[in-house]
Amino acid sequence: MNIDACIFDLDGVICDTAKYHYLAWKRLANELGFDFSIEDNERLKGVSRMDSLNILLEIGEKSLDEETKLALAEKKNSWYVEYISVMKKDEILPGVKNFILKLRENNIKVALGSASKNSMRILKALDIVNLFDCIVDGNRITKAKPSPEVFLKGAEELEVSPERCVVFEDAAAGVEGAKNANMFAVGVGDANVLNKADKIISGFENLTLEILEF
Ligand code: G6P
Ligand code: MG
Repeated sequence: MNIDACIFDLDGVICDTAKYHYLAWKRLANELGFDFSIEDNERLKGVSRMDSLNILLEIGEKSLDEETKLALAEKKNSWYVEYISVMKKDEILPGVKNFILKLRENNIKVALGSASKNSMRILKALDIVNLFDCIVDGNRITKAKPSPEVFLKGAEELEVSPERCVVFEDAAAGVEGAKNANMFAVGVGDANVLNKADKIISGFENLTLEILEF
């Protein structure tokens, strides 16, 4: 196999926190007097907190000053943290843990590559911090996906070359980021949304290492 490492997105790949992000953004939209649909939410996947807020405000046709925006982002995050604070270990998506264990048994390195500043909190709640050789999250990057930064930093820390990395992503921006990093991209979810991915899977249940053959 010509793969040395796998890099996993967090929200929507390892756990279904996308639904909690959606609930918190919807709550904010409703408070501001407009609705926010599940289809609209697709545009926020993989997108940083402030960029997400800007998209939300564009949908609601609101123009606000920077200070108000920072306060709103903070408010959304406090609701989101409230939702994830009661997360249990069993909220890890089916098959993910086994798949990562299989990678480790086969000496394939494992990294997290997420835009979220709440990554550590979530990994701890799921009790899987130790599964990762390296964790690159929203606290450690300056450019959001589709920039390749988060993935390149992961490869660098793992001391592997980008062309020998596979990224697992549920967001279009994330798949693009992986391709911009010159890595293989496995889309987790809908092939129509993730049309730039090299391969598509619906989830990790019963997934074998054959997926890493390109
Ligand atoms: C991930 C999620 C996005 C979220 C971003 C920042 O990429 O897919 O929906 O906006 O992380 O998350 P944070 O927890 O820092 O607000
Ligand atoms: Mg995601």
